[in-house]
Amino acid sequence: MLKANDIGYWYDRQENSLFEHVNLEFESGTSYAIVGQSGSGKTTFLSLLAGLDKPRAGQIELNGEPINKIGLTNYRRSHVAIVFQSYNLFNYMSPLNNLMTAMAITKSSHQGDKEYAADMLRKLGITDEQMKKNVQKLSGGQQQRVAIARTMCCDAKVVVADEPTGNLDEENTKDVIEQFQKIAHEQKKCVIIVTHEPDVAAMCDHSYRLAKHEFSLEK
Ligand SMILES: Nc1ncnc2c1ncn2[C@@H]1O[C@H](COP(=O)(O)OP(=O)(O)OP(=O)(O)O)[C@@H](O)[C@H]1O
Ligand SMILES: [Mg+2]
Repeated sequence: MLKANDIGYWYDRQENSLFEHVNLEFESGTSYAIVGQSGSGKTTFLSLLAGLDKPRAGQIELNGEPINKIGLTNYRRSHVAIVFQSYNLFNYMSPLNNLMTAMAITKSSHQGDKEYAADMLRKLGITDEQMKKNVQKLSGGQQQRVAIARTMCCDAKVVVADEPTGNLDEENTKDVIEQFQKIAHEQKKCVIIVTHEPDVAAMCDHSYRLAKHEFSLEK
């Protein structure tokens, strides 16, 4: 479904490249963890898959079509859902209105369905009271869970998440990864999660390690 085709990336000079000649495939209905040392380039790689930045070499393909041909703006709007630690939600809105707005913007098949949105929030442990408050009044971990619920309300088939459990305790971490597994297996999406936590990687279907500028399959 999503393919990294001979991808290379460096910030300043090619001799300082984070990775080169990366060839990876991500299938729908499957979850993937990406692990690796701090500074190895995981977030950078995820931002390429999400169409937030362009690779210096190679291309990202969605079902055989390069995403720059689809257009990165169009790709981000219609095909990919992003859960990043910051710049996530509309700050002046409630969780419920964040989801309703995201569904409207992306023309989701659930557009306008408030009860569906509320259900997804409940699945992520957001209470009926919390979902009506301004999101800024929620904790970091709660805000992240709202962002995960948002991916469940939109039709984008690719879901990428950067350290989605970074702010959560053990129990909530397990719940959140179980939800991601459902997004992959029940909604048949392609879920790609960057994580530091071995337990999180172990719960995903597959795991890639980024080390010494290369990705290797660990699981
Ligand atoms: N905008 C930038 N300009 C120059 N260098 C950058 C930029 N963003 C990141 N880097 C460098 O690129 C490298 C990879 O950064 P990246 O954020 O992708 O790592 P990461 O694997 O996600 O790390 P962490 O686990 O700490 O989040 C780091 O050495 C970082 O300093
Ligand atoms: Mg990172």
